[in-house]
Amino acid sequence: MKVMQITKTMKTMKTMRPAGMGASSRRAGTSVRASGARDPTDPTDPTDASTGVASWLDEPLKHVIESQQFSKAALAEIFRVSREMEDIRPNTDEARQLQGRIMSTLFYEPSTRTRLSFESAMARLGGTVLSTESAGEYSSAAKGETLEDTIRTVEAYADVIVLRHFQAGSAKKAAAAASVPILNAGDGPGQHPTQALLDVYTIQREIGRLDNIRIGMVGDLANGRTVRSLAYVLSMYENVQMYFVAPDVVRMKGDIKTFLTEQDVEWHEVDDLRAVASDVDVLYQTRIQKERFQDRPEDYEKAKGKYIIDLDTMALMKKDAVVLHPLPRVDEIDPACDDDPRAAYFRQARNGLYVRMALLKLALNGTV
Ligand code: CP
Repeated sequence: MKVMQITKTMKTMKTMRPAGMGASSRRAGTSVRASGARDPTDPTDPTDASTGVASWLDEPLKHVIESQQFSKAALAEIFRVSREMEDIRPNTDEARQLQGRIMSTLFYEPSTRTRLSFESAMARLGGTVLSTESAGEYSSAAKGETLEDTIRTVEAYADVIVLRHFQAGSAKKAAAAASVPILNAGDGPGQHPTQALLDVYTIQREIGRLDNIRIGMVGDLANGRTVRSLAYVLSMYENVQMYFVAPDVVRMKGDIKTFLTEQDVEWHEVDDLRAVASDVDVLYQTRIQKERFQDRPEDYEKAKGKYIIDLDTMALMKKDAVVLHPLPRVDEIDPACDDDPRAAYFRQARNGLYVRMALLKLALNGTV
């Protein structure tokens, strides 16, 4: 990519970082937690004590709250189990692994893929589903019940709770109140860690590697919880380069940029989508999220329609590159691109089923 097209280049690397968290130790192949991950053995870490978020190195999977909680070893194990899930057929012993177990989905924001893929995952493993969509309207939240009280009630009826909420930090709050696993299915503009897992699983399945990739993240990077979670997960792999292509009003937030810099992950902000498209292995498009602009509609108007992937964009891409999108899309990928074999977003949505089957199995039946 031409330097001329880079509007802001990678920030100066920090020379100070906590012991054991640098790129050199990661590159030596040791299982070092990402900076910001909780250490359950650290008595000075109150967040871990209050939420039970495990590092997943040696402990049973409990809550899935944020991407930073995963180690590379845990990711490998989740992806190994996900791959096994692809081969499960109905009416086999494998399809009854979660017989007798109950999953509740509590969704306070709209969803098609996340809720239905979790529900399908539970059904395909023989379990049962209690579903509350539009929970803000149709659960007792509408009468003023707190999230914590709802969680303490639902855990009496279900063995695992999948939660989507409109507030960042709500999954962590729910986990602090819960005695059953909480799986964060998206907390406002915070994180969407199970989406990041399926995104990374898809990259592995589509291009055959996770190290040495260049990824362009496009669209609403400020409000996009999927790109935030994805950046955390990809930072664990070797020589990953990230290119952020976003309208000015929705640029990637500083906390992610700082985290990546601390991890020695190369990142750039770029204005020219065409330059990025021709250079990357993965082009990850996202929707401009109108629902996050309620108090500033003028910014939504500035952002929408600025970066669209169309057949001209596809023509610039490498033959073995892929286009991903967490979906839903509005107009940011021309449907004319869908027949191109590099358009992997519906395969990506299917992979969500396998990854969520794996997460349910590991949360209810196993360890990683
Ligand atoms: N990707 C994603 O979270 O889609 P839904 O909002 O349809 O669940």
